[in-house]
Amino acid sequence: MLPKLSVIGTGYLGATHAVCMAELGFDVIGVDVDEDKIKRLAAGEVPFYEPGLPELLTKHSGGGKLRFTTSYEEAAEFADVHFICVGTPQLPGQLAADVSQVEAAFHALAPHLTRKALVVGKSTVPTGTAVRMEALLAELAPCKDVELAWSPEFLREGFGVQDTLRPDRLVFGLHSAWAEQQLRVAFGPIIAAGTPVVVTDFATAELVKVSANSFLATKISFINAMAEVCETVGADVTALAAAIGLDERIGKHFLRSGLGFGGGCLPKDIRAFMARAEELGVAEALSFLREVDEINRRRRVRAIDLGGELLGGPYPGARIAVLGAAFKPDSDDIRDSPSLDVAATLGSQGADVVIYDPKAMDNARRAHPELGYAATLEEALAGAELTMLLTEWREFVAMDPEAVGGLVAKRNIVDARNVLDAAAWRAAGWQLRALGRP
Ligand code: UGA
Repeated sequence: MLPKLSVIGTGYLGATHAVCMAELGFDVIGVDVDEDKIKRLAAGEVPFYEPGLPELLTKHSGGGKLRFTTSYEEAAEFADVHFICVGTPQLPGQLAADVSQVEAAFHALAPHLTRKALVVGKSTVPTGTAVRMEALLAELAPCKDVELAWSPEFLREGFGVQDTLRPDRLVFGLHSAWAEQQLRVAFGPIIAAGTPVVVTDFATAELVKVSANSFLATKISFINAMAEVCETVGADVTALAAAIGLDERIGKHFLRSGLGFGGGCLPKDIRAFMARAEELGVAEALSFLREVDEINRRRRVRAIDLGGELLGGPYPGARIAVLGAAFKPDSDDIRDSPSLDVAATLGSQGADVVIYDPKAMDNARRAHPELGYAATLEEALAGAELTMLLTEWREFVAMDPEAVGGLVAKRNIVDARNVLDAAAWRAAGWQLRALGRP
């Protein structure tokens, strides 16, 4: 018989995991302390934008394989394997991650575990957290046979469903053959499809996640550092990236230069990793991550400078169309969004900023009510003296320079994601500046 699953935490990671496990044939209960979120999920509504997820949620909540609750007691009674999928955001004013939601989830679940069960941490945590949570389970769970495993998640927002159903790899940090067996059953359909499994210890499993995100962040900052050099010598970073990416050892992925990385994961993960390394006395080993972070932030300043060059002076009063608020396309997530950060800086410098984003408008407006917002791309462009393309939504990449040229007051554009055909835009009379391109 298949084990029953609970998924604790129903944010981007947890909701996607719960729905996808139901899609794989398991009976799943999703748990969250946020009643509003649980109500919306129970009503078949995904509380964030993730392509493909609403359809699967409807399919499985309707079909009875998936339900939602705020009761840990109910989850403990129902499930044999419990996935911990709560967030670990950056602590305000610090580099370290806030693991209080992880601790709270273990504290809330453990006292209800009266029969043998496996608890599986999926949240991204500082090394050493799993060992602490194992001790907590031993102390608080009435059943002394409850075990812990750590299996980090690698899904990307916008590709959450496909990344969960067909991940590149599964990583199991564990302490017993029984735990491995449980995980091999819980991920049975994914393993059967040929997904490689790495079985290891807790510390390695925790580290795989943060080192993978650190590598990705480093790759992006590497190409953005090359963009800085290209700007000085008049070279083209997009051609450079294409050329070095053809070397299989380097690879073409994650070499898109531009405004840099943001979101709820890469920025806070490299910072939390540095903070943890400091605590562990190995800060020096990760000192390069500080540079990775700084290169990343410098791109925002550079994008703003390029806009100033096009305007021929400072920003006060300038009407600026900001295209994109989400940290990347196909997401409504504005956490640590480079685009929204640039928009807010322009606004604070006195520019008349009008933002349009296909999905992130509500989130952006809540975070920055002081900025201007437009209901459509056309409305954002109308009368603009400068256009800043900051998130590469398809709608923006596909703009016809001649058609949109008729809407703006001045044909000035900063392509901060290197996605426009510069020659075509210039031929249509636009002054175009891009990061790392002549
Ligand atoms: C990232 C990782 O890619 C996932 O594997 C991981 O599971 C996830 O974090 C997490 O820790 O939960 P995500 O934050 O959804 O996923 O976004 P990415 O697709 O990695 O993009 C991150 C940022 O890098 C975006 O702002 C994107 O615009 C930027 N980026 C990405 C570039 O600037 N250049 C690139 O070549 C690629």
